[in-house]
Amino acid sequence: MCGIFGIVKEKEENLGPILIQAAQRLTYRGYDSVGAATLSRDGTIDLRKDIGRVDDVAARYNFAEMRGQRGITQLRWATFGAPSQVNAQPHIDSDGEVVGAHNGNVVNNVELRQQFIEEGLIVRSENDGETCVHAVERYTKRGYDIIDAIRLAYGDLKGDYAFVIGQASDDKLYAIKKGSGLVVGIGEGFTCLSSDLPSLLPLTRTIIRVQDGEIITLHADHVELRSVKDGQPIEREPETVTESMDAVQKGGYPHFMLKEIHEQPSVARELLHLLEDSGEVETVLEKMKDARHLYLVGCGTSYHACLIGSVYFAQLAGRPAIPVLAPQFVPQYAPAVGHEDVGVFVSQSGETKDVLTALQTAEKRGMTSFGIANVIGSTLTKATSCWLPLCCGYEISVPATKTFTNQVITFLYLAYRMAGRDTRELMQIPDLMEQTIEMVAPQIEAIAPSLNEWNDLYTLGFGTTFPIALEGALKLKEITYAHCEGMLSTEFKHGPLSAVVEDYPLIFVAGPEDVPLIVSGINEVTCRGGRAIAIGEEDARLHANADDVIVIPKSNPYISPLLSVLPLQLLSYHMSVARGYDPDFPRNLSKTLTVD
Ligand code: AGP
Repeated sequence: MCGIFGIVKEKEENLGPILIQAAQRLTYRGYDSVGAATLSRDGTIDLRKDIGRVDDVAARYNFAEMRGQRGITQLRWATFGAPSQVNAQPHIDSDGEVVGAHNGNVVNNVELRQQFIEEGLIVRSENDGETCVHAVERYTKRGYDIIDAIRLAYGDLKGDYAFVIGQASDDKLYAIKKGSGLVVGIGEGFTCLSSDLPSLLPLTRTIIRVQDGEIITLHADHVELRSVKDGQPIEREPETVTESMDAVQKGGYPHFMLKEIHEQPSVARELLHLLEDSGEVETVLEKMKDARHLYLVGCGTSYHACLIGSVYFAQLAGRPAIPVLAPQFVPQYAPAVGHEDVGVFVSQSGETKDVLTALQTAEKRGMTSFGIANVIGSTLTKATSCWLPLCCGYEISVPATKTFTNQVITFLYLAYRMAGRDTRELMQIPDLMEQTIEMVAPQIEAIAPSLNEWNDLYTLGFGTTFPIALEGALKLKEITYAHCEGMLSTEFKHGPLSAVVEDYPLIFVAGPEDVPLIVSGINEVTCRGGRAIAIGEEDARLHANADDVIVIPKSNPYISPLLSVLPLQLLSYHMSVARGYDPDFPRNLSKTLTVD
């Protein structure tokens, strides 16, 4: 998703390197074009932008030489208007005296552009970032000062966004937040802002988290916050961030994804400690037990965690829970929910629009809602009265790995507690994860080249491993660009079996109690020439029937599926790298999806 960064200095200097580095730190969000603008006190604006990677565009347009007293950079992930030079951000106003960029989605973009054209403004692109600039310009042209113009623009711009804007005629930058992330940083002799916290950390540890409906004015030596409603000042003390910078560096690994895969045991350990001491867990459990219906709501990988959570609640605690893809919650369940029902809304970023829309709908119906999120301070954590943190630190790589396993652990822990089972059993999980990574890494590296010859494969599971098969397939699709379908193993014979030809690869994920059923599935494909790769605990039946067995450590039927996702993460990683792709930033994808 798009990312914005802006900085205000006391005097004019070479801002190019700062803007390039800020843009590089935002790349994990996913993007297709990049731009930078500097504003000088003499009233000039230098704007350079194009489609492509940060390093390439910055080198082609020599961002490094850009000077100014203020600077803005933006990474664009296309929604309105194709990726192109003209649609890249930042954008200037009709007279080239104002420059701005946004993150998010202005849903009435097309209507507003038409209005601007009719009003005589010069509209150069189809992009909604330009619409934010003209939305302010239309009011400054009518004589409003910039703050009032932003307030009026806020009334016109529908959707969720954050934008930053600067006028050549003064020495400040202005920004507003409505639905999309925005954090302000205060340093020695400068102030800055960004779509997220990690991109500010190398510059300053003194930050202000901006709330929706707040207008920011960045001066070189201080920051003003105002309410968009009445323009009145808002007092908020800056906070000091103590998190380590290691979290946003690769720490010796070639990719963030590999680092984050290896971090899973340690973040699991941290999460389990936190859950044992958490008062919120009691609140969540109490409400979940008494709920008429319990819904677990998420998208993508977070939805897969909801799926396995529902199997855990049923198997361990006899508590039915309905897993739902967030957008489908609105038409399928929201009309029927009420205050007797409970929803758990799960999102790594806490900013996924599909999840937030489902949450809003649920709240309107009076449903009790909880959040499970990784990003503290995200919209989900603010919108729910009670939420559980995933304790993963920053997950930079677009494919979710450590946040998935901690989501699964959270559900497993809640199910254990609901069932009155001893949670000490779960404390072995981090060590088991460490052993798993160690055991499977060489096996995966050995098997990946032969699987990489295929652009089409299946991952199959049953019961608790069905969601793991779906998650493995999502990872493989996401970063190898191959087609991989995750399915219930028993469904394969109801149609897809016709795809099997000689050596056709199928990965079976076997829970320890489901081996006989998985073995049936294996034989249905191997007798037709297919190649079965089984992931499971050491078991003679798997060795006797599958072509290859990726062995994971012995645990129990609930922990085992959690371990079996690790080889699938590693497999997708190695296949992606061998294909020459960057697993951290797969094409077309974004880490934080703040659009419908
Ligand atoms: C996972 O690898 C994906 N990047 C994606 O499916 C992701 O899980 C989904 O977009 C939901 O994101 P969230 O957890 O931040 O809400």
